[in-house]
Amino acid sequence: MASEHRTHLRTHTCGELRKGDEGSRVTLCGWAMTVRYHGNVTFVDCRDRYGTTQLVLSEDLKTQASAIRKESVIRATGTVRTKPQPNKRLATGEIEVAASDITVLATADPLPLDLEDYSNMTEDTRLKYRYLDLRRKRMQENLLMRHRITKAVRDYFDAQGFVDIETPFLGKSTPEGARDYLVPSRVTRGSFYALPQSPQIFKQLLQVAGFDRYMQIVKCFRDEDLRADRQPEFTQIDVEMSFVDEEDIYAVMEGLMRHVWKQAKGVSLTLPFPRLTFAEAMARYGSDKPDVRFGVGIRDITAVAKRTDFAIFRGAETVRCVVAPGKIPRKQQEELERTAKVYGAKGLLVMGYDPTKREFLGSAAKRFSGALATELAKSLGKDIGAGEATLLVVAGEERVVAAALGAVRLAVGKALGLIDTSKDAFLWVTDFPLLEWSEQDGRYVAMHHPFTRPKDEDIPLLEKAPEKARAKAYDLTLNGVEIAGGSIRISERELQQKMFAALKISPEEAQRKFGFLMDAFRYGAPPHGGIAFGLDRLVSLVCGEESIREVIAFPKTKNAEDLMMDSPSGVSDAQLDELGIALKK
Ligand code: AMO
Repeated sequence: MASEHRTHLRTHTCGELRKGDEGSRVTLCGWAMTVRYHGNVTFVDCRDRYGTTQLVLSEDLKTQASAIRKESVIRATGTVRTKPQPNKRLATGEIEVAASDITVLATADPLPLDLEDYSNMTEDTRLKYRYLDLRRKRMQENLLMRHRITKAVRDYFDAQGFVDIETPFLGKSTPEGARDYLVPSRVTRGSFYALPQSPQIFKQLLQVAGFDRYMQIVKCFRDEDLRADRQPEFTQIDVEMSFVDEEDIYAVMEGLMRHVWKQAKGVSLTLPFPRLTFAEAMARYGSDKPDVRFGVGIRDITAVAKRTDFAIFRGAETVRCVVAPGKIPRKQQEELERTAKVYGAKGLLVMGYDPTKREFLGSAAKRFSGALATELAKSLGKDIGAGEATLLVVAGEERVVAAALGAVRLAVGKALGLIDTSKDAFLWVTDFPLLEWSEQDGRYVAMHHPFTRPKDEDIPLLEKAPEKARAKAYDLTLNGVEIAGGSIRISERELQQKMFAALKISPEEAQRKFGFLMDAFRYGAPPHGGIAFGLDRLVSLVCGEESIREVIAFPKTKNAEDLMMDSPSGVSDAQLDELGIALKK
């Protein structure tokens, strides 16, 4: 069969030939994955990104065969024939190509990393030789999946009437709350562009211009502390819509996820996705991105705990617990306590529960004697009683208790193998607080960004009790990871000014930083809102990868370095002179 991959150098790819091609004369190009000498015959596994085909080189090609180094690029012509013993692990395993001619197009030096065995490979080595690391099947599959996902995203939005519009990279500081990457201007010495942390302001301006359905798959730049799910440059699926409320955004985004899951994984998602308000998520799961693939939750036991004579309970703002099914060995209990302490808990109280005797066990159990124990068991409802259980209790300030138990809950889920990893659990978290207090700045800062709209009924709180105001802001989470965040925006100057006042941003500063947006709002701004997905996170979850670096072709290390290019690196004095920049010693 003729191949759609036919070029002047090859007739087929290495993944395409089957039994039906028997007798065809073919030319393949690829990398010599393995070279095995068997007496007078040489077997070469020829690999490209489509697959691997076995070439058989007879004695008359012995000289050429001996020159083939592993991972060299080769080109072979021959005839397809059936293999005496098929290789069931390969799609091409029923055939082989009896070569009549073979050329080495480019020889390869011995590779600095072993493409088959990664057990001893550091990530640094993989990143330094990324172009070799990317020859591995798993990395190729990840990048192909990324392509499939971005294609599905574009197709979906196109079919829904969205317009893909590019926005500048050389801009001005944007308000996502991380540090900016700056680019010095040569023309206007002493001035700097900032790379966008997101296209937030541009997409709002595009709404003022009338592009009521905007989308873009776009790089964003944030100079922040990096982790497995953060890169200094990452990609967003960025969306903005006019004449919408939250429900419209949820519906369009749920449709997007359904389309992507169908195209990428062949899975039909059930819609709509469940929702929790931020307050509910924090109370029940101790997290604004709860992993709801397992049922264990957090229970409030303040009322009964306050009636014990235990001073720590009595003095605490709140007392809550995680009820873990089964027993937890002492060593694991200690680990869980360390986890709780990372989040500021003073300690973690552990109590067992024996369902037959209906008794709490362990030294902490004596705090709940007689009637209080019965009441405690009753207040935990169906979480307790069916089998042995372990209560993990934290008392203290509400914020700390929630976060500490959120982490304990997750650790319990992992340790006891409660998380069903075959599931994809989407969850909307809604009604985020508008503002949060920043110790560092000594003022309120926007939890999402300063253009986020307060809930209508909470607008009066902006002046009276800003910390109580909720926002029309939402995140989409998947398996405990925040994959998207967005909000309905403020589109009136007056309300925006009120918001700046709550943020203690003076009118002068607001004018200097965002004056062009404020000006735009004078000339007819439609009500609008939007959202942005972290594409890297989305793809890594689809691929089952722990780190987003596994789905980015050329990622940076945790120190924001590119080990392959050796970047960032110094520049010449001449370049600095041109920019009018002198480096501090
Ligand atoms: P936000 O800041 O929540 O919203 O970002 C949207 C999504 O981008 C992903 N993300 C990241 N991924 C990798 N590395 C990073 N450093 C990183 N930072 C964020 C997350 C996150 O949910 N302009 C708003 C969107 C809007 O309001 O429409 C914004 O950027 O998955």
